[in-house]
Amino acid sequence: MTNSAPREVVLGVTGSIAAYKAAEIASQLVQRGIKVTPVLTTAACELVCPATFEAITGNKAITRLFEPLSNPEIEHIAVANRADLFLIAPATANILAKAAVGIADDWLSTTLLATRAPVLFAPAMNTLMYEHPATQENLRILKQRGCHFIGPESGRLACGTVGAGRMADPSHIVEFALTLLDPRNDLRNVRVLITSGPTREPIDPVRFISNRSSGKMGTALAREALFRKAHVTVISGPSEVAMPYGVEVLYVETAEEMAQACATRFSECDVFIAAAAVADYKPDHVLDTKHKRSDGPLRLSLVENPDILGTLAQRKAPHQIIVGFAAETDNLLAHAREKLTKKNLDFLLANQIGIPQSGFGTSTVRAYLLHASGETADLGLLPKETVAERIFDRVAELIKKRTATQGASSL
Ligand code: CTP
Repeated sequence: MTNSAPREVVLGVTGSIAAYKAAEIASQLVQRGIKVTPVLTTAACELVCPATFEAITGNKAITRLFEPLSNPEIEHIAVANRADLFLIAPATANILAKAAVGIADDWLSTTLLATRAPVLFAPAMNTLMYEHPATQENLRILKQRGCHFIGPESGRLACGTVGAGRMADPSHIVEFALTLLDPRNDLRNVRVLITSGPTREPIDPVRFISNRSSGKMGTALAREALFRKAHVTVISGPSEVAMPYGVEVLYVETAEEMAQACATRFSECDVFIAAAAVADYKPDHVLDTKHKRSDGPLRLSLVENPDILGTLAQRKAPHQIIVGFAAETDNLLAHAREKLTKKNLDFLLANQIGIPQSGFGTSTVRAYLLHASGETADLGLLPKETVAERIFDRVAELIKKRTATQGASSL
């Protein structure tokens, strides 16, 4: 999320067993520099303690509409006006019903009626309550009115049943909240396709050839595009780094699989970013059984994998923007410029490897951003998140320029 103005979230906690998980949500939001105003309904106070939320957020937890010696009318309207997001997690069937019909009988429901900030509900309840036509109708009304929802998920519920009704994962809820809190929307309706991580080329059922790519760069790109409201699809090789909630992820293993997945999705995308460290070579045949030491030395004959970026860029439609990466140990800018031209790219992020703090698995990159016009921007040593931001700044700028030109020519 862009860190311009500090943002404020009203965290409404209602009376579901999942209320204890709301403390984790509050903590993750605070760690991201967000001001959290906790609001606990009477039922929530039976399950969790307001003091927990006060300690985590550093703010008073609101529990009653009419506090002695307070001016409730002004307070709840002020918070309703000030908040950037109302996050109700967990959201019971009761609060959904109240919000749907506009009942205002406690602090949370009253303030929900007064706010014009985006509202995100994370429902949590028993499966039968969730599936009840009344709840389903309330969900439909709230969605139609523009409220956002995350979950519920299916699984084992506190009441012992297995089914839909479990609150979404707290870190997914936080990711979704961060996307809603980010005011940027310069990639709205833009479809972004990203390759990420390494590929693995099998030798036999237990061994493979791969590289040191962690997938951090692809993840940072996906998160940045999502924050700017793009539709994001990532085709990822094996990676330990979790993709943000809201990204469509297709996991693949080999370069061939990545090439096939990209080929089926490429024509639908507006922006293609090849951040994967695709293994350039694979064994010319894969052994069916494990090669034993007693079999003697293992000699590999390697053949080239398809150049995914190079092949797709040849099919590039006029509206598509293509971004490549180049990780080099020497003659960085010369190799990078050559790749940009040869592969028919709009931008190329050149990344110096073989120096401390820059390269595979690191959190920072020594980077240059090259443009097809011949321009080269020296970005310096930056966190991968900032590199992703810089790339999408340029991509968004190019989209805007093209849209303006199209608009002018159709006048
Ligand atoms: N790339 C790709 N498919 C491959 C190899 C690379 O799509 N088989 C993409 C990478 O994701 C990156 C760009 O091409 O965006 C450049 O990758 P790099 O490995 O630096 O270039 P190569 O063309 O493989 O050249 P070399 O390894 O010889 O430097």
